[in-house]
Amino acid sequence: MTDSTETTVANTVAVTAATDADMRALARRIAAGLRAGDLLILSGPLGAGKTTFAQGLGEGLGVRGPITSPTFIIARVHPSLVGGPALVHADAYRLGGPEEIEDLDLEAALEDSVTAVEWGEGVVEGLSEDRLEIAIDRRPDDTRTVRVTGVGRRWADRLPVEE
Ligand SMILES: Nc1ncnc2c1ncn2[C@@H]1O[C@H](COP(=O)(O)OP(=O)(O)OP(=O)(O)O)[C@@H](O)[C@H]1O
Ligand SMILES: [Mg+2]
Repeated sequence: MTDSTETTVANTVAVTAATDADMRALARRIAAGLRAGDLLILSGPLGAGKTTFAQGLGEGLGVRGPITSPTFIIARVHPSLVGGPALVHADAYRLGGPEEIEDLDLEAALEDSVTAVEWGEGVVEGLSEDRLEIAIDRRPDDTRTVRVTGVGRRWADRLPVEE
């Protein structure tokens, strides 16, 4: 990473990603600490870098690509090429609420996959008691601040990103 400063507050780690390559590298590092059943909620404004982060997750998990912005397809399953969990990449932007998420049936795949949902805050929390919240902020200089927060027992003591 070309510019990386990290601070820890409780089970939140804040990381700076200076470029899109840094964002993917960060997500690859996080992917190394993930396993089937993990849920990630990616938040941040339009163009923040949520899909870029998901691409890094896919690289780290070794799943079949390409990982693109879901437009009409709201959730896509990227199977593993290395015998690990698949990546389910979903976009809740157009979903009305928790009822519509139920129709997607993400729950069916959750146990066997790593699930990453863009715009998932306030919508998919009910899917899992444990989750990683990835909140991306875009700064005026185009660098990004990425706050990784662990929620639930699974992440109480340890986050999949170094301090
Ligand atoms: N430091 C950075 N981190 C991530 N992306 C960056 C950075 N600097 C520039 N970019 C660019 O910003 C854009 C981020 O787009 P991306 O599709 O990942 O955002 P998004 O949050 O998924 O948007 P949307 O809300 O439309 O789904 C990309 O074109 C990427 O190359
Ligand atoms: Mg996106």
